[in-house]
Amino acid sequence: MAKEVKTIGVLTSGGDAPGMNAAIRAVVRAALSSGLKVKGISRGYAGLLAEDIFDMDTMSVTDIVQRGGTILFTSRCAEMRTPEGQKKAADICRKHNIDGVVVIGGDGSFRGAQKLSENGINTIGVPGTIDLDIACTEYTIGFDTACNTAMEAIDKVRDTSASHERCSIIEVMGRTAGHIALWCGISNGSEYVLIPEHYDNDEQKIIDKILSKRRIGKKHHIIVNAEGIGDSQGLAQRIEAATGIETRATVIGHIQRGGNPTCRDRVYASAMGALAVDLLIAGKTNRVVAYRDGEFCDFDIDEALAMTKDIDEHLYSMTRRLSR
Ligand code: ADP
Ligand code: F6P
Repeated sequence: MAKEVKTIGVLTSGGDAPGMNAAIRAVVRAALSSGLKVKGISRGYAGLLAEDIFDMDTMSVTDIVQRGGTILFTSRCAEMRTPEGQKKAADICRKHNIDGVVVIGGDGSFRGAQKLSENGINTIGVPGTIDLDIACTEYTIGFDTACNTAMEAIDKVRDTSASHERCSIIEVMGRTAGHIALWCGISNGSEYVLIPEHYDNDEQKIIDKILSKRRIGKKHHIIVNAEGIGDSQGLAQRIEAATGIETRATVIGHIQRGGNPTCRDRVYASAMGALAVDLLIAGKTNRVVAYRDGEFCDFDIDEALAMTKDIDEHLYSMTRRLSR
């Protein structure tokens, strides 16, 4: 028989992402509306291990659906990677009568959730990361906002790049994944998008393309470079030296992690938070919420973590075709 869940805890872990607050709000409100108690856990696993735990009610999550960041704070916590830390975390949950936990974060955070579950605490993961690098889901909380933020920043760089007839390299986040770069490459009409999944280190190809575009009358050039390739300053210097075209590098950085979430991030984060609570109520554990083929669903965390995420090859070949 499924273990009855009476009190759930909620935490955010790893890098923050716009829309996490909408997910927290959904977890709290869905749980309260189903007659459960809710405890907020501050600063991810670090706060859990420090027993930084407090009661949440409906007013705890008022006026947050539109806010970036996470009201619960977040952290990266080395102790949670140890078996002792994992057991201690589960014992602390029991001490506070928490019998189900919703973990909002990325792959790393799900590994922590997996360990909580192994130690007897029902745990559900909700994918929160701007990187879109979680294999089981086509959507992660924050990706849409981060892409929109980066897209708007690149539009602005384009204005000045065009005025000065320059080449601009804009580096976007994504850790080792090129999803944000790919979407920005398309939405900003870049001439080149450099992503780790397809990078061949052939800078001469980039230089040749810039020169051939100059010959047909192009006055400025936009190259979107993924963080996973990096070295945007070095690349700018080498392109300028080889082409004689003034080249500047802009690293957008953490601006992409902040700001008010888009409508899509608010709505999907809300749906995922509410689904996580329903899974706990149904007695499920070691599951991660996902969005696939137009539906919200859930996967076993072990299976989810074993999957590999590929770049959208259709989008990648399309961007190459359109930037000729
Ligand atoms: P993300 O969740 O965004 O991928 P991290 O990889 O930094 O971010 O992971 C967030 C936190 O999850 C880590 O600081 C750690 O506390 C926990 N974590 C990561 N990997 C493991 C693991 N193998 N076992 C237990 N906990 C882990
Ligand atoms: O995972 C989100 C992310 O913003 C990545 O895109 C980036 O590589 C990393 O986190 C940056 O981490 P930090 O905020 O610790 O510098």
